[in-house]
Amino acid sequence: MTAREARLIVDGVIRRVPASITVAAALLSLDLPFRRSVSGQHRAAVCGMGVCFECRVRIDGVAQQRACQVTVRDGMTVDSE
Ligand code: FES
Repeated sequence: MTAREARLIVDGVIRRVPASITVAAALLSLDLPFRRSVSGQHRAAVCGMGVCFECRVRIDGVAQQRACQVTVRDGMTVDSE
């Protein structure tokens, strides 16, 4: 791993992503899901600026975090909800 990379643990799987991007950008670049709606449809980042709340995931055990507003940190855990 280089200084420009971070380990992101997504739904229990370790992924390597650029260290300075948002969690939303990381999930999109890995083509991974964010969460499902109550009707079971996949949801994903829409606005990318903290307004739509479509990118919510659990980050380091804290539910309902907007992935587009959080920068990746090495060792961070992300769980789709
Ligand atoms: S993408 Fe809209 S709040 Fe994150």
